[in-house]
Amino acid sequence: MQKKEELYSGKAKSVFATDNDDFVVLSFRDDTSAFDGEKVELLSRKGMVNNKFNAFIMNYLAENGIPTHFEELLNDTESLVKNMQMMPVECVVRNVASGSLVRRLGVEDGMTLSPPIFELFLKNDALHDPMINEYHIETFGWAKAADITEMKALTFKVNSLLQKLFAEAGMILVDYKLEFGLFKGKVYLGDEFSPDGCRLWDAETRKKLDKDRFRQGLGGVIEAYEEVAHRIGVQL
Ligand SMILES: Nc1ncnc2c1ncn2[C@@H]1O[C@H](COP(=O)(O)OP(=O)(O)OP(=O)(O)O)[C@@H](O)[C@H]1O
Ligand SMILES: [Mg+2]
Repeated sequence: MQKKEELYSGKAKSVFATDNDDFVVLSFRDDTSAFDGEKVELLSRKGMVNNKFNAFIMNYLAENGIPTHFEELLNDTESLVKNMQMMPVECVVRNVASGSLVRRLGVEDGMTLSPPIFELFLKNDALHDPMINEYHIETFGWAKAADITEMKALTFKVNSLLQKLFAEAGMILVDYKLEFGLFKGKVYLGDEFSPDGCRLWDAETRKKLDKDRFRQGLGGVIEAYEEVAHRIGVQL
């Protein structure tokens, strides 16, 4: 496999073409951003940690029946993935109230959500990723009704699998965001799963072990990511 030209550069990763149209290289950078790109910093080792963390999670999900775009780890900061047509939608599950849910609805930070809450957001930084529902997605053609149903079912299946994985390692999976895409007409989990796109708290102390450390200027961001990786058995 030959890595070719850069196709796209997002806030945290870059996508490169390969000599095979079916596959692209996802390159995880150290760039760390929050608040729709308003706060940006370089955090040393982040690209490596997230690349390996993501590979571990994607493999675990695939072993448990989730179709993912992940093919193989190429090196410390790059992975080979299926070249998908991404759906511009973020699927979020919340097991515990935090972040924008608390700000929006005035509910208590840290309250357990039973049943968990499912939310959809449009990926659009200029519009600050507004919350949408199934009707917006179908009417504006961002995804087909059947694909929305599939994304939602997969997002909940991921919840059972990852809640268990993190609970066994002494952590609470508070919430997370997934992105899906189409490859040869079928829905696959895409993008990444890492502490950049979820909230993880220590089960005992409720210490934050995710990107909230960066958002809130708590320090020890990458050290926390490395601790999570270590606890679930990711080889860094
Ligand atoms: N398998 C895939 N095939 C093609 N593109 C992918 C795949 N997985 C992820 N992507 C896209 O690669 C980009 C990843 O970069 P990054 O996460 O840095 O972007 P972002 O800044 O969050 O999002 P964007 O720039 O799209 O608003 C995203 O646009 C994501 O949708
Ligand atoms: Mg992203």
